[in-house]
Amino acid sequence: MVDKNMKHEKLLNLFEDYLSCNLPVSNSFHPIFQNALQDMLKAGGKRFRPMLLLTVVNASNSLLLKNALPVALAVEFLHTYSLIHDDLPAMDNADLRRGHPTLHKSFDEVTAILVGDALNTHSFNLIAHAPLSSDVKIEIIKSLSSDGGIDGMIIGQAIDCYFENTTIELEKLEFLHIHKTAKLIACSLKIGAIIANLNDNITQKLYDFGIDIGLLFQIQDDIIDETSTEEEAMKTTSNDGSKNSFVNLLGLDGAIKSADKLAEKCQNTLVNFDENIKTNLESILKSYLFRHRG
Ligand code: IPE
Ligand code: IPE
Ligand code: MG
Ligand code: MG
Ligand code: MG
Repeated sequence: MVDKNMKHEKLLNLFEDYLSCNLPVSNSFHPIFQNALQDMLKAGGKRFRPMLLLTVVNASNSLLLKNALPVALAVEFLHTYSLIHDDLPAMDNADLRRGHPTLHKSFDEVTAILVGDALNTHSFNLIAHAPLSSDVKIEIIKSLSSDGGIDGMIIGQAIDCYFENTTIELEKLEFLHIHKTAKLIACSLKIGAIIANLNDNITQKLYDFGIDIGLLFQIQDDIIDETSTEEEAMKTTSNDGSKNSFVNLLGLDGAIKSADKLAEKCQNTLVNFDENIKTNLESILKSYLFRHRG
């Protein structure tokens, strides 16, 4: 039985245990594909998106946590696929991810492309098999396929790569980052709300809040690229030179100011949620987003 209001570390351990026991399997005589399939999932990562999803479920109806785990894993699969493809030479050409060589470095580009494809499709397979009602699963699939797809992450990545070395104005830059990053983060909160059967009003509020914290997450990521070593970030840094990053458009100080402003807005918005959601989200956001901001 799962504790009510399980603490952040316990929730993370629950997710990590579930992930370890449910790594994707590929039965064939291919000598390395299964290892490649599991490599980036085993490498770690902050698990921010599944934690957001599980936090909403935990705060609203903790009895549903177990049923939510395969969906949280699906979100992490889709996110991990996006990172594997993001690191490819055709995109950001990065060598280090989650403290390990990127997948195309450990294996090869063909394998990295196909592992990304497999994690994408398998995430929807996980949702289809989750112990939830068909109606709930259809709503989840609609949301993840849209925010993780052409209405979200994909168009964001497409714009991010197409406009390398071409400066775009702030409004377009925000469109880029909202789609590339914030929508999947907002979607993770929304899926938690769908599983917990929260009403449309609160579901929308969580989604809108997710867009703000997602944008903040990406501004901080752009700051990390500029200010952190590879050892600190556990991924390739100083890699945004040709990108429309917040740092490149606003300067480092401007990006930090804009992150501070958004962090304050997010902290103020949190107050509008009911007590349980507020305290649970506050605790997770403290460790992921507000850590450096007092
Ligand atoms: C990196 O995401 C890509 C961005 C959207 C900024 P994370 O920073 O969540 O990466 P992991 O999952 O912790 O490796
Ligand atoms: C990638 O953004 C966002 C994705 C959709 C994967 P970045 O390219 O800034 O992510 P990092 O810095 O490589 O993790
Ligand atoms: Mg990128
Ligand atoms: Mg990148
Ligand atoms: Mg980055």
